[in-house]
Amino acid sequence: MPLTQPVRHTGPGIRPRCLDHVNLSSRDSEAISRELEAVLGLRLSERTTGHEIVWMRAADNRHHTVATVKGPSGLHHFSWEFASFDDFKRLGDTLDAQGRFLVWGPGRHGTGDNLFAYYIGRSEFMVECIAEMEVIEDENHQARIADPGENLSNPKVVNRWGALPPRLWTEHFMPFAASIAA
Ligand SMILES: [Fe+2]
Repeated sequence: MPLTQPVRHTGPGIRPRCLDHVNLSSRDSEAISRELEAVLGLRLSERTTGHEIVWMRAADNRHHTVATVKGPSGLHHFSWEFASFDDFKRLGDTLDAQGRFLVWGPGRHGTGDNLFAYYIGRSEFMVECIAEMEVIEDENHQARIADPGENLSNPKVVNRWGALPPRLWTEHFMPFAASIAA
């Protein structure tokens, strides 16, 4: 993703540096990840033991540009990259001032080692804000296999700081297209 935005800006609210990754929701995340590898050349950075979540990186070697999570077909969330954790404080205060709230976080994911905070956007998409994503420099990187625990209960994978995802996060997905009754 092109880094086209300056680190600091003078406007209201917060502004990301770039689009960071998408997390697809799929009934067969293993098959989707194989497809992404074959068609787009993405490489496997890490996956959970049962392919519940798969993280794939692109040419910039950031831990994941596309992730897939098992669930109904659609988009689970997309993410923006921010310059620093300071932006998360402003995010929380901005949402609060608008009568809204964070869904999960701030915290630090075990996979990707990135700082995170999630909220539901105006269009009802789940939005993740991240900083400090791991970069995999090793050309011979062996894909790691993480044990997420039952229902994402292993904090060292899910959130190293402890708070596990709420149902609002685990049950969220956005269909790719609305089904139209015949
Ligand atoms: Fe994410």
